[in-house]
Amino acid sequence: MQTLANKRILLGISGGIAAYKSAELTRRLRDQGALVRVVMTPAATEFITPLTLQALSGNPVHTELLDHAAEAAMGHIELARWADVIVIAPATANFIARLSNGLADDLLATLCLATTAPLLVVPAMNQQMWRNPATQENIARLQARGITLLGPASGAQACGETGPGRLLEPDEIVAAISAAGRTNQLAGVRVMVSAGPTREFIDPVRYLSNCSSGRMGYAVARAAAEAGALVTLITGPVALTPPARVRVIEVVSAEQMHAAVLAEAASCDIFISAAAVADYRSRQTALHKMKKQDTGIVLRLEKTPDILSEIATLARPPFTVGFAAETENLSDNAKQKLVQKNLDMIAANRVGDGLGFDSDKNALEVYWPGGSQSLGTAAKEKLARQLMGIIVARYREKSSQQTHEPAAIDVSD
Ligand code: C5P
Repeated sequence: MQTLANKRILLGISGGIAAYKSAELTRRLRDQGALVRVVMTPAATEFITPLTLQALSGNPVHTELLDHAAEAAMGHIELARWADVIVIAPATANFIARLSNGLADDLLATLCLATTAPLLVVPAMNQQMWRNPATQENIARLQARGITLLGPASGAQACGETGPGRLLEPDEIVAAISAAGRTNQLAGVRVMVSAGPTREFIDPVRYLSNCSSGRMGYAVARAAAEAGALVTLITGPVALTPPARVRVIEVVSAEQMHAAVLAEAASCDIFISAAAVADYRSRQTALHKMKKQDTGIVLRLEKTPDILSEIATLARPPFTVGFAAETENLSDNAKQKLVQKNLDMIAANRVGDGLGFDSDKNALEVYWPGGSQSLGTAAKEKLARQLMGIIVARYREKSSQQTHEPAAIDVSD
């Protein structure tokens, strides 16, 4: 299982001998499914070539702050926005000092100032430089700002000395990055997510379906797992690798999805219905492949059960979140569905114009009874994490209201 699937990691390399280990780190990050972009300080390029890191990361390496060509393609602000997390490995004493002082004198330092992404610093330096009070003060300042420090390890150093200041091994760094993305906001909470399209067969080789890729639902399941939830993903047929630490139930038709969701409903606290369930199925499924005819044919369709509504109207429903893909009147249609389907929340997205169904990006308007929030165009992984933040807040609020409701008083005698 890949622990960093589609996570956008900006790897910053500063100029120390341990920079050679960044090549291995880049490979390990990609093995875990991460998308890696490398930014090097000028000194780092003296230790390892940008070409090596370009080949390993699969992306051009960025080194210059004032590079007109780079700014036209992906400039420093775009890079800062692109990253889900920035990892500086190795971080030299000099880079740590620059970071601690908020300098913006090269591309990497500027990015660190311009980003809102979490920053992970992996120091590597001579043991005496590490112990120096100046470095220790800088480290303390970074930690006070919420920057995560990974390492350093202790042991034999390239300079021949022994002590603290060794870069953590690539595997240790990868494990720490995976762990740092996890929160415990939904620890112990059972979350069921439905994803992907369904297929409604007309005969053994033909079916009705839709353009859903399943990416949004998979991203939501991943975000729930990162938040510490126990996640069950009920998925229609898609070409995606399931996220790590998620239980997967594969289905094909709306009827199978209906049965699977209902069977799990009693043992879930939150249900997020991201699947694009077919609204209609053929009244009859031919036993054998239908023969081509000279004239047209009439296909009689019947409605499929509305799974989401059924779950939301159970006697003890989980916290229910629906999705609404719309090509027009986004806000009105979504608000109407929120009420009609008795939901706790709905996430509406406009489909078409390169957004929505079969795209990496999306934009969401999230509505709940009495409130709303817009999530601007972003990668589905990022949006899913933002959506999960809203779900956590609303779920907690609803749970606390339920626990504070006065107990029913029996007045029968
Ligand atoms: O009414 P509409 O199909 O637009 O509603 C979309 C929402 O309802 C989605 O959350 C989808 O997963 C869910 N749905 C369902 N069962 C259906 C159709 C849609 O659960 N048969």
